[in-house]
Amino acid sequence: MTTIITLAYLVAAVLFILGLKQLSSPRGARNGNFTAALGMVIALAATIPLLHFTRAGLVIIAIGVVIGAVVGTVGARMVRMTAIPQMVALFNGVGGGAAALVAVAELLKFGVHPPFAEVFPSVFSIVIGSVSFAGSMVAFAKLQELMTGTPITYPGQQVVNGLLAAAIVGFAIAVIAIAAIPFSFLSLMLLALILGVAFVIPIGGADMPVVISLLNACTGLAVAASGFTLNNFALIVAGTLVGASGSLLTKLMSDAMGRSLANVLFGAFGQVHTAATAAAGAQGRSVRSASAEDLGTLLAYSQRVIIVPGYGLAVAQAQHAARELADVLERRGVDVEYAIHPVAGRMPGHMNVLLAEANVPYEQLKEMDQVNDDFKNADVALIVGANDVVNPAARSTPGSPIYGMPILNADQAKNIIFMKRSMRPGFAGIDNDLMFGPKTVMFFGDAKDSLTKLVSAVKAA
Ligand code: TAP
Repeated sequence: MTTIITLAYLVAAVLFILGLKQLSSPRGARNGNFTAALGMVIALAATIPLLHFTRAGLVIIAIGVVIGAVVGTVGARMVRMTAIPQMVALFNGVGGGAAALVAVAELLKFGVHPPFAEVFPSVFSIVIGSVSFAGSMVAFAKLQELMTGTPITYPGQQVVNGLLAAAIVGFAIAVIAIAAIPFSFLSLMLLALILGVAFVIPIGGADMPVVISLLNACTGLAVAASGFTLNNFALIVAGTLVGASGSLLTKLMSDAMGRSLANVLFGAFGQVHTAATAAAGAQGRSVRSASAEDLGTLLAYSQRVIIVPGYGLAVAQAQHAARELADVLERRGVDVEYAIHPVAGRMPGHMNVLLAEANVPYEQLKEMDQVNDDFKNADVALIVGANDVVNPAARSTPGSPIYGMPILNADQAKNIIFMKRSMRPGFAGIDNDLMFGPKTVMFFGDAKDSLTKLVSAVKAA
């Protein structure tokens, strides 16, 4: 029996790894989810014979499984695409909290003197899992606008947080070495919960995807530690995979934003939302705008158009309208592709997911490195609700919050159509000189309405 269970865990681990591999491309992402979910079903099924539950215990577990499955399925089906980051935060937090509670429960079973091999991973799991739970709940509240998304700061905050973290580490060492008693586990948990809240409140709402990814990595580590406590190989493998992939994703996101992780976590980015600065930068300068008819004609007689989607496309849910415009243009022989910046939108893969939902062919989605050289040959760069990811300040203005961030070379296209509702800045809160450039025409309005107007105009051209 033990051999069968071990083999089942091995199969589950292989499926987790294959699932992760498939998730690295939009084309394989859907199958990747199914593959990893199958791995999880196998791991759960293999675990049941290990449990020596009473009938009542099994009934309680069955009720939990049914409630979890219903809440998970209904929640995932109902959630809007723009609300996925907060849903991930919620699910991630629950995972961290569960790991911490499992560790506490295991330690309580041993009474006052649990063996070292149990205490060490359990204390780790309690601390990291609790930080992850509390931090994820704050991230959820910020993204769901249940609390302010702007950083909540006060003088000396990082010092206070540092001292709290140091106190937790000291207390954890003391618990492991001398005072492994129930009161100390619960006190440690409480302190870690406070640290989770204190750590996330000074971070701006729009940086939450990076924070969630980091906390996700923490949850993975907490779960892996629970695996050591419970002596469960599947938990160790799954937790480590989550920890590793979450850490990599966190690094990739920070790199793509041109910011260090320390800047994201401790920079209180978004605190001084520089709308005023942006307005000041825009003072005295005028932009060109044009009618849908004129722009429709420009697009219809182009040979090559590159669509640059951004956060505004997600807000307006304009992905279907973008696809429709691309279809109309292609029928006229125009070559259309989409330039995807790695941090366009507010979550990793945001644009890929939206455009895949509108059945945009994968071959048309070009990563930044693939497409950047094509802009100079494009007749039109059609910027749909993007801003920071095309802002040339990232290349030319040292001191700008986005200086050093790799951007899409939309400014090199022969013509630039900039679609947004106003002159307001994007996430970084800074002015974008591209709007004032001689090749740029602004087309103001909600992205979905504007694209729909362009579809009609191209048809009529
Ligand atoms: P942003 O720079 O945030 O600009 C989005 C623009 O969309 C805004 O200027 C806004 O202008 C416009 N907009 C909003 N609603 C619209 C609507 N309904 N119709 C038309 N336009 C609309 O977006 P981006 O270029 O995608 O850049 C993403 C930013 O988010 C980067 O700074 C990135 O670092 C940051 N970020 C990304 C991530 C990930 S993982 N993707 C995570 C955290 C932070 P108006 O208000 O004038 O319409």
